[in-house]
Amino acid sequence: MDKKIAEMAKEAASQAYVPYSHFPVGAAIVSQESKVFLGCNIENASFGLSNCAERTALFKAVSEGIHDFSAIYIYGETESPISPCGACRQVLSEFCDDEMPVYLLSKNLEVKATTILELLPYHFTKKDVETND
Ligand code: THU
Repeated sequence: MDKKIAEMAKEAASQAYVPYSHFPVGAAIVSQESKVFLGCNIENASFGLSNCAERTALFKAVSEGIHDFSAIYIYGETESPISPCGACRQVLSEFCDDEMPVYLLSKNLEVKATTILELLPYHFTKKDVETND
């Protein structure tokens, strides 16, 4: 866990567009080459179209051709470390190895370190799709 990257995830939350929930979230995903991509949650009047911070960060990286990651930091202005939603767990599992560290952060930067597999055991993967061809 890198304190500087945790601070970057916190800073990313300041860009959150959250007129409906007033619940800013920030994320920082780190590539294998140590490049950091930041993201925030972006809401919409059509609530279901809102995008979570961790998906924003991941999609920014993937859209620049980066598919290999070493860690993600997710920050919420919460009393205890934030817990990512199910949709984000599935989307992260598409690109991140089972053992990749996930650092969940509270408003005071208290950390819960976990992994992709711990967050979403027995997840649906591209192997499941391919074996069905
Ligand atoms: N949210 C995230 O961006 N990441 C999480 O890990 C949990 C939830 C967002 C979605 C929505 O904009 C707001 O937080 C409240 O659910």
